[in-house]
Amino acid sequence: MTGLSDLDTQAKTALLTAYAPYSHLRVGAAVRTRSGATYRGCNVECASYTLGGCAERAAIAAAVQAEGPGVEILEVAIYARNARDEEQIIPPCGGCRQMIMELGPNARVRFLGEGGMRVDLPITDLLPHAFALVQG
Ligand code: THU
Repeated sequence: MTGLSDLDTQAKTALLTAYAPYSHLRVGAAVRTRSGATYRGCNVECASYTLGGCAERAAIAAAVQAEGPGVEILEVAIYARNARDEEQIIPPCGGCRQMIMELGPNARVRFLGEGGMRVDLPITDLLPHAFALVQG
């Protein structure tokens, strides 16, 4: 795979610590915030399957823990490998899109697309008509 950005490479590194003994899909994610700092996350599974978590949300949690509630996510990169250690196309799941939108409404999201090219899209394209809680 060519054309990896710096953030893609960080996502690829994040995958190395993935804990995925059930799906054997190892996912790494990296986010860049408005401060310019980057944070990584990997998927963490659990024998009680629904308790497992996605790489993107782990990276976002790391960003919030480091920068606090005012953090703004500007870029997200995702990198995944399957049980045969082949790079796999993993667009972010719906739940992660919602979370990216909440903390990064202007974020761009990068992941492997068909044909080996990296897709790079605004989160608003990945999650049109997003739900947002209007405080009354
Ligand atoms: N997974 C992610 O980490 N991110 C996604 O956007 C989709 C799915 C993980 C969760 C689980 O550990 C594995 O991939 C299989 O669903």
